[in-house]
Parts: sequence; C-alpha cells; structure tokens
Amino acid sequence: MEIKKICCIGAGYVGGPTMSVIAQQCPHIQVTVVDLNQERIAAWNDSNLENLPIYEPGLSDVVKEARGRNLFFSTEIEKAIHEADTIFISVNTPTKTYGKGKGLAADLKWIELCARQIAKVSTTDKIIVEKSTLPVRTASTIKDILKHTGNGVNFQILSNPEFLAEGTAVQDLLKPDRVLIGGDQSEKGKEAIQALVEVYERWIPRERVLTTNLWSSELSKLTANAFLAQRVSSINSLSELCERTEADISEVSRAIGTDSRIGPKFLKASVGFGGSCFQKDILNLVYICRTYGLTEVAEYWEQVIKINDHQKRRFATQIITNLYNTVNAKKITFLGWAFKKDTNDTRESAAIYVADHLLFEKAKLSVYDPKVTEQQMLADLDYLNTRSAQENQELVTVEQDPYEACEDSHAIAVLTEWDEFKDYDWQRIYDKMLKPAHIFDGRNILDKEQLEKIGFKVFSIGS
Ligand code: NAD
Ligand code: UDX
Repeated sequence: MEIKKICCIGAGYVGGPTMSVIAQQCPHIQVTVVDLNQERIAAWNDSNLENLPIYEPGLSDVVKEARGRNLFFSTEIEKAIHEADTIFISVNTPTKTYGKGKGLAADLKWIELCARQIAKVSTTDKIIVEKSTLPVRTASTIKDILKHTGNGVNFQILSNPEFLAEGTAVQDLLKPDRVLIGGDQSEKGKEAIQALVEVYERWIPRERVLTTNLWSSELSKLTANAFLAQRVSSINSLSELCERTEADISEVSRAIGTDSRIGPKFLKASVGFGGSCFQKDILNLVYICRTYGLTEVAEYWEQVIKINDHQKRRFATQIITNLYNTVNAKKITFLGWAFKKDTNDTRESAAIYVADHLLFEKAKLSVYDPKVTEQQMLADLDYLNTRSAQENQELVTVEQDPYEACEDSHAIAVLTEWDEFKDYDWQRIYDKMLKPAHIFDGRNILDKEQLEKIGFKVFSIGS
C-alpha cells in the first residue's frame, strides 16, 4: 500500500513541525493536521507567519512552502479522519493529576478519545501511527478499542515515536539520527511498516530508519529520554561536589566527554532540566516498573528526578544565602523563562520552580524572556497553586527590555541559555544595579572573568 492522505490529530509542538516537514518533503501526500483547540488552528493558519503558535527556528519557512499546497490545519477532526488512509496520533500525554497513578502515570485520556473517534468515523482500512510518547503496551489498548467498531474496517497500529528536541525541531526532523518504526510482525503489520518507511525514505537514508516490534519501539522512546535526563542529572549531581572541592564541572565534562565511550553531549551542568518530556517520561517509566513489581528499577530512575528537583532548589537557596539570607522585597531579575533557548515552551521550566522558591521568601521578580509572554509566565506560576493569582501578579513584573528588567536590581539570575544574554552591555547593566551586584548564572554561559572585572559578584553552577 502507499500512503497518500495523512491526518494528524494534535497540532502541538510535535504534530505541527513533524507534519510540516512531512508535507514539505512529500508533496504527493496530503497532510491535514487537526486539533480541538480552535485558537491554535487559527494561529497555524494565520497569514502572518510570525503568529504561528509555536516558535521554532526555520519552521515558518517550511510552513510557508507547504501550507495550502498539501498541508492543511483544521478543526474538522471527523472529516479528516474519515478521508485519511493514515492517522498520526500526536496528542498530549501529560502526567496524571488525579486518581490511580496520580503524579506518575501518563494520562491516556486523550489517546483513548482519539481511538474512539477513529473507531466511530472510519469506513475504510487505516494505519494508525502512535506519534505521542506512550507507555509500553499502549498499542494493545488502542487495538482493543478499534477491534470493536463492528463495521469490518481493518486497522494496523504502528509506533513511530518522535525524537525531535525543541529549539532544533526542524533540523532534527530534516536530519534525524534515526527514525524508529515499530509494528506487528504479521504480514499485514510488515506491509504497514513498509508503507511508513517509504514516506521517511523520501528524505532520510534507509539505514537510518529502524524497524522493530511494537513494544520495543514504545519502550525505546521512554528509555531514550530517561538516558538523556540521567546524563544531565549525573553531571548536575557532580556540580555540587565541584562547588565544594574547587574542581570545575565544565572541565570535568570536557575531560570525560572526550572519552568516545561517553561522548560530549548532554553533559552541560545547569539549573536543572525542564521541558514537557523528561520528567513526565521518567515518572511514567517509574510507574510502569512499579506496576510490574520492579521496585529497585523504579527507584533507580526515580533518583534522576530527585537530583533534578534538588538542583533547582539548590540554585534558589544559593541566591537567598548570598543575598545575606533574605530576599524579602528585594528585586531579583530573571533572564530567561523558557526551559531552553530557541523555544517559547515553558513546560516544567526550571525558572518556574526557582521563581516559586524566591516568591515564597517574598522576593520581587522582574523577568525578561525574548519569546515567552507575560500571560504564559503568570499562568505557569498560578498553575502551582502556591499563592493567589493576584499575589503572583503583584510580585512579578514582566519586562520587554532586558536593561529595564535589570535596573535597581540586587541580583540577576540566568535561567535560560539564550544567546543574546552573552552580548549584553554588562557595564551598562552593572551601573544601574544596586551594589553589591550579584549574578547567578544557572547556565554557565556568561564570561565570569569579564563580569568580575566590572565588579559583579558571580556565581555559576559547579565551580
Ligand atoms: P502539545 O500539548 O503541544 O500538543 C498536543 C495537542 O493535541 C494540543 O494542541 C491539544 O489540543 C491536542 N489534542 C488533545 N486531544 C485531542 C483530541 N482528542 N483531538 C484533537 N486534538 C487533541 O503536546 P506536544 O508537545 O506536541 O506532545 C505531544 C506528544 O508528543 C506527547 O506524547 C509528548 O510526550 C510527545 N513528544 C513531545 C516532544 C516535545 O518536544 N514536545 C518530543 C517528542 C515527543
Ligand atoms: C527532549 C529530548 O532531547 C528529545 O529527543 C525528545 O524527543 C523530547 O525531549 P527537549 O525536552 O525538547 O527534548 O529538549 P532537550 O534538548 O532534551 O533539553 C531538555 C532539558 O535538559 C532542557 O531544560 C535543557 O536545558 C536541559 N539540558 C540539556 C541540560 O541542562 N544540560 C544538557 O547538557 C542538555
């Protein structure tokens, strides 16, 4: 079979960029991305490409090329499902906030809704592709729901997890290290795998497209994120030891990263990892292990999260301690709110938790981020439910200009590694701050020596 019409359910950080690149690379395939969120779809359709709902370098050019040609964004979910031969499920799978597995398990409510909707409207055979990150064995649930349509339609379920990282999504999609496709090992299953392989083969060398059974593919996604996050927690745990011993974590990273068995990536000490995936996927892995009674395995991976929480708390404590043990009514400036540079995504950003600790001590925060809106920052704080929305609004000011954000401030904390922070006129910033002027560089991106020469007291992670 040949894939000709794709419907993707979920127009978020994964569905949007992934489908844009598939449409760009495969002009012969019609791709329709659907979502329940009308505002989001309207933003994807906005004639001004500056208004796309997510910020990703290079994305607007891809959308510009394909949108209206063979790429469409729509809220007509049932129509798009009905017409498609292949349906990607790219909906969110956040950590459950209620009931059994609360705080650990992935909430599969939206996945099940998709499966039921597909079952309801399908009248022709279809390939269903799990693009969302899912617990191992979810495909059997989806299969079960689809089996009971009663109208003789055949479904093949594939697992095709997405490995893009935000901020580099377009490049990651154009030149992935690998694409993973898992499916049934039956004749029909293999045909479905082959059909999807042929889509990716249009721009990705065949040897980079790996095929496996369904369960290996589902589990590989959780495993990949667990390994990546584990590297960050490992290096962050040792950053604390460096601070006590005059070792320097960036030197340690370089020293170990040159060992080809270890490799240089994901060894940057930081204020802690954020993003919508790492924490959620590890918690999910922990939950799955517990479900199978694998207590030691669950505890092993749980430690990655504990170190991350510790790192965020430690950073906030370092600020408080160095500001003479009180930040009450002191203005502290945050440079960066996003969980990493080149994205407007703030989910699980370390900035939110560091801010919450400081607000608990009654600090006044002034925040500047080049891509995150004030509305988003306040929503992130309100979501924690630590204090009222009104209090958050009173304690936090959001600035459009970084120099204004730093004026009359006691301390600056760098929470995101945006490149522009390196090029600021730091003398100008210093002159307008209260003295002694402190900088807490949570990303180790600033030139410590130069800042100290100006007169700043500089604190970085792991040195
Ligand atoms: P997201 O929240 O940005 O987007 C999900 C979208 O799905 C939302 O716009 C929501 O309105 C829509 N949706 C939910 N239920 C729906 C339904 N029944 N019908 C139609 N639309 C529906 O999430 P995301 O970041 O794109 O993540 C999606 C999945 O991909 C998750 O499982 C995530 O773990 C995984 N993933 C994310 C990343 C990443 O970097 N964000 C990377 C790899 C994998
Ligand atoms: C991650 C995975 O990398 C990606 O493959 C998967 O598909 C989704 O989850 P993402 O969360 O978008 O991607 O960004 P990533 O680059 O992995 O960074 C995650 C967090 O770790 C960020 O907060 C980042 O700042 C932090 N990080 C990363 C470090 O603190 N140090 C590092 O060395 C690397």
